[in-house]
Amino acid sequence: MKIAVVHGPNLRLLGRREPEVYGTDTLDDVNRKLAEVANELGVELETFQSNHEGELLDFIEDAASRVEAFLINPGAYTHTSIALRDALTGVELPFVEVHLSNTAGREDFRRHSYLAPVASGVVLGFGVQSYLLGLRGLVARARG
Ligand code: DQA
Repeated sequence: MKIAVVHGPNLRLLGRREPEVYGTDTLDDVNRKLAEVANELGVELETFQSNHEGELLDFIEDAASRVEAFLINPGAYTHTSIALRDALTGVELPFVEVHLSNTAGREDFRRHSYLAPVASGVVLGFGVQSYLLGLRGLVARARG
């Protein structure tokens, strides 16, 4: 099984971006920890980050022919992007939405997600563990 991991805007700043909110792991650390769990679960990952909404849509549409599911931290596009939701529903593949921070307990504008209603599941507030739990959930769901 192959899964695409998608990191949205500003996530390449991880490690130095508001560490009190997002932790001190860098994006490379997150990807390395995901690779370890993927190895344990026997799944293959393809990883992508972009700060650009259109590039995220292009990646999702292209990757859909070579992966079975998506693990996505949409960053701020969570709260703004109908286009990202439409791309994910359009490719008709399951996806899990993850957030490092507990978006439900932050500013009001972070409480709404355009993606959550169409996601297989959402994990938030566990730092890098949100990604790892999300990956485990996605694989468990796919394996039935
Ligand atoms: C985030 C939460 C979003 O509200 C924010 O815009 C981010 C990171 C998180 O992982 O906690 O960029 O997705």
